[in-house]
Amino acid sequence: MLDVPAKPAARFITFEGGEGVGKSTQVKRLLVRLNRMDIEAVRTREPGGTPKAEAVRAFILQGRSESWGPGAEAVLFAAARYDHVSSLIAPSLKSGKWVISDRFHDSTRAYQGLTGGVNDKLIQGLEELALDGHQPDLTFVLDMDPSTAFARVESRELEKALAQTGDRFEKEDLEWHRRLRQAFLAIAKANPDRCVVLPASQSEDSLEEEIWDTLTRRYPELAERKAG
Ligand code: TYD
Repeated sequence: MLDVPAKPAARFITFEGGEGVGKSTQVKRLLVRLNRMDIEAVRTREPGGTPKAEAVRAFILQGRSESWGPGAEAVLFAAARYDHVSSLIAPSLKSGKWVISDRFHDSTRAYQGLTGGVNDKLIQGLEELALDGHQPDLTFVLDMDPSTAFARVESRELEKALAQTGDRFEKEDLEWHRRLRQAFLAIAKANPDRCVVLPASQSEDSLEEEIWDTLTRRYPELAERKAG
């Protein structure tokens, strides 16, 4: 009988961090790596990921909920997350697919909770309802000084203008982004088993390697598989 290693169990991986730290690039690169190993994986994002959640995304990012305040916005993000988890994340994991999400519940903790001042009880309650037990297995917190990240975001501005999407949270000031950075670091510190903080100012290639090293150390069955 051939000794074919079993497919690694499906994992739920999230990427978090402030604006312009390069999450989307790394999410895409990880997908390519997994697919190369013949591992089925779904790439998704928050807010969004399903048609209903994308509608909530458009509403929030166009600034239409800004006057409602961070508490009501936390509820909106959670509503989108509820649909995302129940109609995409949970079924994908159940069918054996890895799920890689560009942002997830830590963004609500950081943006609306620690930076926006929404009380912890509301954040935790919403989280329980929306996640329904689907905590990520591993979260990469990409960390970068906001002034470096800002320079990257500026170069994407034209692209954004063309797509006609004003972005609610990118217009906050530098001090706000510094607090946001500290919020993500505090979340990672409080969840050391799940969160891994990686410096995002390094090159995209070396960050990709660090991410892959972390994954294969945590899930050695990945390292044992040969690229297809
Ligand atoms: P997006 O354009 O996806 O930003 P980024 O490329 O930085 O991920 O916009 C998502 C914005 O929504 C981003 O500013 C973070 C914010 N956000 C929250 O405030 N709370 C949340 O729960 C989530 C998921 C996102």
